[in-house]
Formats: sequence, C-alpha cells, structure tokens
Amino acid sequence: MRKLTYFIACSIDGFIGAPDGDAQMFFAYLDQEFLRFLAEEYPETAATQGRRALGIDHLENKRFDTLIQGRVSYDLALKEGVTSPYAHLRQYVASRTLGRSPDPDVEIISTGLVQRVRELKAEESEFGICLCGGSRLAGELADEIDEIVVKTYPVVLGSGLPMFASDFSVAPFTLDEVRVFASGVLVRTYRRT
Ligand SMILES: NC(=O)c1ccc[n+]([C@@H]2O[C@H](COP(=O)([O-])OP(=O)(O)OC[C@H]3O[C@@H](n4cnc5c(N)ncnc54)[C@H](OP(=O)(O)O)[C@@H]3O)[C@@H](O)[C@H]2O)c1
Repeated sequence: MRKLTYFIACSIDGFIGAPDGDAQMFFAYLDQEFLRFLAEEYPETAATQGRRALGIDHLENKRFDTLIQGRVSYDLALKEGVTSPYAHLRQYVASRTLGRSPDPDVEIISTGLVQRVRELKAEESEFGICLCGGSRLAGELADEIDEIVVKTYPVVLGSGLPMFASDFSVAPFTLDEVRVFASGVLVRTYRRT
C-alpha cells in the first residue's frame, strides 16, 4: 500500500487558514531558506504556476505522483482561470456539486470518496498520494491518512479553519522528523502509530 500524506501549512494554534479560508498570512514565511527546502524535498507540492514563477517546473516529483483536494480548495485555482493547478501530478477533486470536470486532467470524486482513496492507495507506485486540504476533506479522510507533514508557521490566529474538520477522536501518530528554519517555521513529519 502506498501512503496518503496530509501535507499542510498551519499556525501555531493549528489553523490552516482564517475563518474565511484565507491562508495568505503564511506567505510571509516563504523566504529563501524555506523555498530551497521545498524545492529540494517537496517540489511537486507547489502548484504549476508557482513552480514556473520559482523556476522549478523542470524538477521531477520526489514523493508524490497523485494529489487530492477538496472542491473549495480547487475553487481558488478555478477563480484564477486555472483548471489544472497541479499539472505535474494526477489530480482528484472531491465534490458532490461540480458535476463534470472542467479539465480532462482532473477527475472529480463525487461518491464513494473513502473507497476511491483506498483504491488509489492500493495502486502499484513508488510515489505516494498528497492530500493538500482543505479542512473538510481532511476531516472526511482522517482515518485514511498514513502520514502528516505539517509546516507550522510562527503565528497565532485564534480562530479559523482547523487542520481537521471532524468529530473528536484520539489517533496517535509517531514523530519521524523535525526540521527547524531560521524564520521560526517548523516542518514535522508524523506517521500513523
Ligand atoms: N494551509 C494550507 O496548507 C491549506 C491547504 C489547502 C487549503 N487551504 C485552505 O482551505 C480552505 C478550504 O477548506 P474547506 O475545509 O473549506 O474546504 P475543502 O476541504 O477544500 O473542500 C470541501 C468540499 O469538498 C467536497 N467534499 C468533502 N467531502 C466530500 C465527500 N465525502 N465526497 C465528495 N465531496 C466531498 C465538498 O464539495 P462540494 O461542496 O462541491 O460537494 C466540500 O464542500 C481554502 O480556503 C484554502 O485556503 C489551506
């Protein structure tokens, strides 16, 4: 089985965005040191437009070949007129309302989300699946997540979108790695215990 990894940016107090979903307050911490780390370790997690802007669109995928996101997260790209935001990955969008996909490279999952994710995990591949958010999709897929890579930015938001919009439950994870950056950003990798 290949892994489903929740790769997410959050505040010290565990919010992935403001109450309206805005996550731009994290952009201030994308300094040279951190961008170099992302380019070296997770180049495929940047959207295609961002990769082009950073001059890293030629870099090969390192960990993931597939990405899944919720419809509200996908809407951010659609609003910019981008229908295939991660053109270097196989893309899935969970949505009961979108209907037909606006792009041949993006598959909509409208029913049987957990089952479809289990099928993707069962595929033969040396690469994993990146769950890039948002809060509600992560809540729906919480039990399927094998690994969490959480980029914690040194900012407190007080309220906002939680890392998981889900019911209370206790799911132990084991810390595998911590990276510390001069800006105060931490990247912690956990695997399901
Ligand atoms: N900090 C970060 O790294 C980060 C990363 C990604 C996103 N974000 C933020 O997260 C925000 C969006 O998060 P969100 O929680 O509001 O929304 P979301 O998780 O992106 O999308 C929720 C939508 O996914 C679909 N969905 C959820 N469960 C489903 C299921 N079981 N079957 C089929 N479709 C399902 C539904 O779409 P329909 O309504 O179409 O049915 C639902 O409205 C964005 O504003 C973005 O800024 C932050």
